[in-house]
Parts: sequence; structure tokens; C-alpha cells
Amino acid sequence: MRNKNIVLCGFMGCGKTTIGKQLAKITSMEYIDIDQYIEKQQNTTIREIFEKYGEDYFRELEYEACKELSAKKNCVIATGGGTLLFDRNIKTLSEKGTILLLDVPLSTIKYRLRNDKKRPLLQRPDKEKIMEEMYNARLPLYKKVANQIINADKSPLAVADEIKALLKKQQL
Ligand code: S3P
Repeated sequence: MRNKNIVLCGFMGCGKTTIGKQLAKITSMEYIDIDQYIEKQQNTTIREIFEKYGEDYFRELEYEACKELSAKKNCVIATGGGTLLFDRNIKTLSEKGTILLLDVPLSTIKYRLRNDKKRPLLQRPDKEKIMEEMYNARLPLYKKVANQIINADKSPLAVADEIKALLKKQQL
């Protein structure tokens, strides 16, 4: 059994959750979603945490979650879009994990998130502009931290299959 975790990284809407679940299913690995972990632990939604306590507070919860989950082995871990922008989280998650960037063009992200009501950072009138700015600022950072970049502008199953094949060939 492979001990290392697969850590999925990328912009909001790139498919970390959907692909992560699919990958876990076809590889019989355990699936962990950092946002879901926080929501369960705090018994509320990410959006409410942002609204009530602000982003900095959320980032502390996120860091605590990374530390708690870093002991895990052989898991597929879906991060939040901001998780791997912080050195402390990168350090914690990369110790026992291979980081894969799910690379999706901005146009696809914009389309997928056009009606999103869940993501606190996008609930604003200038959503399109903000998405563009954040995407352009973040992409180079994701690329820097990723051990491998996966083109994820296709169906979740196709991406999961591709990652599974890389795992099989021990290329991850
Ligand atoms: C965030 C992305 C979200 C969630 C939070 C902050 C970000 O996760 O962690 O709203 O900073 O990009 P998803 O990437 O799963 O939407």
C-alpha cells in the first residue's frame, strides 16, 4: 500500500472535491475534504464562518485542520482554493503528500461558478473581475507548490482515471 497522500490543489471550481471523491472511489483510498472537515467540526458552513468571524479566523481553522489531517496516510485530500497559498499549510501537507494541481482555464472556472452561492470570497457584484484577479495571482503560486500539474479541463472521471494511471505507474 502506498503511504503517501494525494493532495489536490487548485482554484475554486477546478474540481478538487468531485475528482477527489472519484479518485478515492476508484483507488479505494480514503477521501478527506478540508472544508468539509472544518464544517463538520464547527457544525456550520464555511460561508457562515467567514461572515461571523472573518477570513483570518477561517485560515486558523484551516491550519489546525491541516495539522490534524497530516497524520493520515494513503488518503486523497481535497484542499480549499486558499489552503496551499500558506507556507505553514504547504509544509504540513507536503510532508506526507504529493501535491497535484488540477489545472483548469479561467473561462471554465467562470462558467462553473457563475451561480455559486457557497463561496464567501465570490459573493460580490464584481465577482467576474475578482475571480480573474485571484486566478491570475494564484496560479503561479499553485504551480510552484505542485509536484505535478494535471490538466483537469475534462470530465472528473477522465481526470481521476489519469491520476490513477500515474499512481499505478508509480509516477506520483
Ligand atoms: C477558498 C476556497 C474554498 C474555501 C474558502 C476559501 C479560497 O474552497 O476553502 O471559501 O480562498 O479560494 P474551494 O476551493 O473548495 O471552493
